[in-house]
Amino acid sequence: MDTLVMKVEEAGKYLRSQLGQVPEIGLILGSGLGVLSEQIEEAMTIPYHKIPHFPISTVQGHAGELVVGKLAGKHVFMMKGRFHLYEGYDVQTVTFPIRVMKFLGIRTLLVTNAAGGINTSFEPGDLMLIEDHINLTFRNPLIGPNDERMGSRFPDMSEAYSSRLRELALQAAQEQGISLKKGVYIGLLGPSYETPAEIRMMRGMGADAVGMSTVAEVIAARHAGLEVLGISCISNMASGILQQPLSHQEVMETTEKVKEKFIGLVLNVIPKL
Ligand code: 6GU
Repeated sequence: MDTLVMKVEEAGKYLRSQLGQVPEIGLILGSGLGVLSEQIEEAMTIPYHKIPHFPISTVQGHAGELVVGKLAGKHVFMMKGRFHLYEGYDVQTVTFPIRVMKFLGIRTLLVTNAAGGINTSFEPGDLMLIEDHINLTFRNPLIGPNDERMGSRFPDMSEAYSSRLRELALQAAQEQGISLKKGVYIGLLGPSYETPAEIRMMRGMGADAVGMSTVAEVIAARHAGLEVLGISCISNMASGILQQPLSHQEVMETTEKVKEKFIGLVLNVIPKL
């Protein structure tokens, strides 16, 4: 047994000993979207540092704790704060929680993030349903020996973001009267934002929104057979679109403004999953 599997098992067994029930849905909250945890009933909070082998997140706006409980009638496993490659974590560490989710028996993953709008029809504050992604991190969590118990050597990525779940999300948005954009998320290493030339290149590649997370997590999740739904909060326009510099401050301010819409959508989607 290799050490990654052993670490996943240790973390998973610890969590199983703490949790009453197997959670149904894993949720990863992006920058500034942590408020959703306040909606969880019978919440049990577990700081990452208490979980064996769990890394701890270092970014402002990312809390670094697990909140487990009931959300809109479903038992959820919520990560408030995720791990990014730009923090210096390797791709195995970034995707460690996904493997733990699989160990626990979670079948569905809802990933969220704050992203820059590349598509000029987007505006800050828009929510975008992720239809597909482009992995421009040049990292892949599946490199190395493959554990067949986890998934196959060459997993299919033709429907990384489940069309079934996308349909449900669009339905939920429509019911709530929330406009939900659709597009392709492109994941980069960061932490510097892109140059205008890079953004023009990525628009040409077919990307609609850019960020520094999600793609590695989704690759690991698909490998493990989880069904994935992804939602981006367009926190700002990408570089070169508006004549103003980009800042993490703007990202946090926009997510603060959009939180009610975001919470409304997620609370309406969860029961459908
Ligand atoms: Cl414009 N770029 C990247 N890489 N990540 C972001 C972003 C932009 N806006 C929010 N997150």
